[in-house]
Amino acid sequence: MKVKGEEYRTVWMAGSSVFLIEQNQLPFSFEIFEAKKYFDTCMAITSMVVRGAGAIGATAGYAMAQACLEAPEDDREDFLKNARFEIESTRPTAQNLFYAVERVYEAGKKSTEAAIEEARKIADEDAADSRSIGIYGNDLIGQGYRIGTHCNAGWLAFVDYGTALSPIYMAQKQGKDIFVYVDETRPRSQGARLTAWELHNKEVPHAIIPDNAAAWLMAQGKIDMYIVGADRIAANGDVANKIGTLEKAIAAHEYGIPFYVAAPTSTIDLDCKRGKDIKIEERSQDEVLYQTGIDKNGNLNKVLVCSPGSEAINPAFDVTPARFISGIITEKGIINAEEDLIREIKKQT
Ligand code: MRU
Repeated sequence: MKVKGEEYRTVWMAGSSVFLIEQNQLPFSFEIFEAKKYFDTCMAITSMVVRGAGAIGATAGYAMAQACLEAPEDDREDFLKNARFEIESTRPTAQNLFYAVERVYEAGKKSTEAAIEEARKIADEDAADSRSIGIYGNDLIGQGYRIGTHCNAGWLAFVDYGTALSPIYMAQKQGKDIFVYVDETRPRSQGARLTAWELHNKEVPHAIIPDNAAAWLMAQGKIDMYIVGADRIAANGDVANKIGTLEKAIAAHEYGIPFYVAAPTSTIDLDCKRGKDIKIEERSQDEVLYQTGIDKNGNLNKVLVCSPGSEAINPAFDVTPARFISGIITEKGIINAEEDLIREIKKQT
């Protein structure tokens, strides 16, 4: 994607370093973060320098490749086992993280070069998959559509076009007149900060809406469809995605609005039979209690926005039951969220 006239990838590796777009600084400043060691890359995932299911998957793959580079010859096996454990412990919910680490770890048993090659291949596959998702998803978007989206499932979240936003970019490219309602997505505001930044950057008409406004807009017939991403899809079609997705899906169902999930087949976890088996990350209560933004002088500040002394609860994801999902837009086509179709499409990978 182009930022200020220059082409960037969501994540890349050069030499032994991994380079990331510092998402904690967006939308206020665009900075590149260099992770020199696999441990720095782990910290970047945990602290959400990089976030979004696919982006952390590709990053975790590169972290595993870095670990191969760093492994001492006389202790390679144990070093890599431990590195794998550390990388997998960074965040628990996104399937792509575990998928990528597994692939690069296995390749690393052959050689370090094979591990680096595998990590690059995963990022390239993600780019190709997200492009296909855009092509299939675009078919669902009619002229003049007003589309709702939650969190950020754009190119910051998935190499290289995003998942939920990829069909929107494709529709725009084809000259369709579209408008996007961007859920702000408290507590970390990935919608208000990141999706809005991406759409603004690509000149896609949009507006940020408070999280609690979506159902009201649906009730008034102002939203034609919803497209969201996914962090993990269970075998029965239940989908874990950013907290708040579930209530949007229920509201869309109530008002007869198509609700689509856009995700590649690499996000499907057949070992996970149903949504309730998905591990949901609990994050720090500070994310609810404090907000970060810039003041009039352009300084980044963190301020308390809740009653001092109160505690907060912060589940990062929820699970939407398959029955609320109109379809899953994958790189191989659009399928109903049904177990036999999910197994079938996963078999083709
Ligand atoms: O906690 P985050 O920001 O890493 O959340 C993950 C997500 O970005 C989403 O839930 C998203 O909708 C799917 S990512 C392609």
